[in-house]
Amino acid sequence: SVMAEIAPSILAADFARLGEAVEAVERGGAAIIHVDVMDGHFVPNITMGLPIVRSLARVTRLPLDAHLMIAEPARYVAQFAEAGARMVSVHVEAETHLHRTLMEIKRHGALAGVAINPATPLVLLEEALPYADYVVLMAVNPGFSGQAFIPTTIDKLRRLRRMIVERRVATRIEVDGGIELENAAEVAAAGADIIVAATAVFDSADPAEAVRKLREAAVQ
Ligand code: DX5
Ligand code: ZN
Repeated sequence: SVMAEIAPSILAADFARLGEAVEAVERGGAAIIHVDVMDGHFVPNITMGLPIVRSLARVTRLPLDAHLMIAEPARYVAQFAEAGARMVSVHVEAETHLHRTLMEIKRHGALAGVAINPATPLVLLEEALPYADYVVLMAVNPGFSGQAFIPTTIDKLRRLRRMIVERRVATRIEVDGGIELENAAEVAAAGADIIVAATAVFDSADPAEAVRKLREAAVQ
């Protein structure tokens, strides 16, 4: 059986208790901690940055996945890798020199990801796939947790999976936004390797149990 990994996003956690939040999802079997970095410019919200990544890197062994929803991400990728993010993604919509920035992330020892908004066509990723360790396929417009999953993402996900198979690249697919227990199985079946979830995990009474249930749903 193939299992999509669960990457809880701390965006929906209590920011005054981030250590406990991470500890709970670790106990539940989370594979990755997803950190949503927003600058109030590329997206209409401001969240967290380098100091939080540095602090979290000290309290967890799980890889930290910095999802940079910021303008001019090339200015910051090295700093995020040095702060302890083992995965760093930049948006294709925010980066003109994608190849250079992906190589820069790798040079600093992190896995390099490309994130893509719901209305951005997959063709913009085509030439970058051989250099991208993972794609963050957005199923909501980035900016906030708790939004509804955009249904056309499933077809886009299947097409991205096909593109990766046909091109014989090792790029993994992370699906981000609107995933809950009810649609996790469908997302995993359509080709997700990694499933991000904020609300479904941290708005629940028992985040560890919520991760366990998402893992069960994500087994194919
Ligand atoms: C959206 C973020 C997502 C978000 C997911 O801008 O990139 O990672 O935290 O939140 P949920 O799972 O609640 O849709
Ligand atoms: Zn995210």
